[in-house]
Amino acid sequence: MDNKAIIKKIVKTSSASVKEIVELLKGDTDYLFYEADKIRQEYCKDEVHLRAIIEFSNYCRCDCQYCGLQRSNKNLKRYRMSIDEIAENAKMAYDAGYKTMVLQSGEDSYYDSDKISQIIKDIKSIGDIAITLSVGERDYIDYKKWRLCGADRYLLKHETADKDIYNKLHPHSSFERRIQCLKWLKELGYQTGSGFMIGLPGQTLNTIANDILLLHEYDVEMAGIGPFIPHPDTPLGNLKTGSSILTLKAVAIIRLLLKRPHLPTTTALEVSSSDNAFFAGANVIMRKVEPYKYRRLYEIYPILNLREKSIKEERREVEEYIKSIGREISSSKGDAIIIKNSEVS
Ligand code: 5AD
Repeated sequence: MDNKAIIKKIVKTSSASVKEIVELLKGDTDYLFYEADKIRQEYCKDEVHLRAIIEFSNYCRCDCQYCGLQRSNKNLKRYRMSIDEIAENAKMAYDAGYKTMVLQSGEDSYYDSDKISQIIKDIKSIGDIAITLSVGERDYIDYKKWRLCGADRYLLKHETADKDIYNKLHPHSSFERRIQCLKWLKELGYQTGSGFMIGLPGQTLNTIANDILLLHEYDVEMAGIGPFIPHPDTPLGNLKTGSSILTLKAVAIIRLLLKRPHLPTTTALEVSSSDNAFFAGANVIMRKVEPYKYRRLYEIYPILNLREKSIKEERREVEEYIKSIGREISSSKGDAIIIKNSEVS
């Protein structure tokens, strides 16, 4: 089968083999992006969802070998935002037009179950806001409590579907535990997001195909795919940045195969290249909204020189950009897209 035939088959059957995905990852982009953009249009229309992300703590118990927040990085100044500061920040973002707040942090046990619950309640009392948590691996009972407090969504990237690579890069945890957490989140009715990086050591095109199939298996509602960017204060600091073109191809294949998930054009892609994924199937973009004194310290990968702007100004800029590429700004909260059975071919 040539690649055009593979693409048509994946679109029609919503299934793919590792071999087929690898062929697409090796192949040309024109037809792949064209078809992914068509599916995006069909399922998401021209609406782009803007999400505000509040990175509220850079303390982390983990030692992810690629991440600048890893606990072994002693060069990083650490910060925590107070509960009130987080709620005030969310209010400013809401006033600027954001209807989804993504609450992200390192794995910081200072924010215990009760503190996160309080943050959820405080933000929910501001207005009709969707809350996406992204605070890593926790116990089932915490996930359950936060869901009951009103948290709508959860992001927990699987990072890599290769168990050996996963366990090597995450000495503090295990692949099994990661997948267990993902299953719990789905079971609790969170709109669940996962995702992975392109360019991790040991990763092959086969690994990426398995990453994509894992997202398919768990039928995720959101998927973030970004290139790995080396951080000098980590053991992987001397490696090369992951390929942006492979990143775009992976996004496009996910759109062909899964159809409905919300797919962001990730910050890592924005930072590492001039490409964006809006023409390869993406329909979401996030903007940081926490104060700059914190943004400068949320150093997952090296941060470029930041010119300070207000939340409103940054929102206006991204809105203008979206309009300039012929898309519209969604006025909804942008919940998960549900496919009715009759629509599945
Ligand atoms: N390069 C790119 N992405 C990274 N992440 C962490 N470290 C890096 C890096 N060096 C991503 C991971 C994590 C998310 C918060 O950031 O996928 O889930």
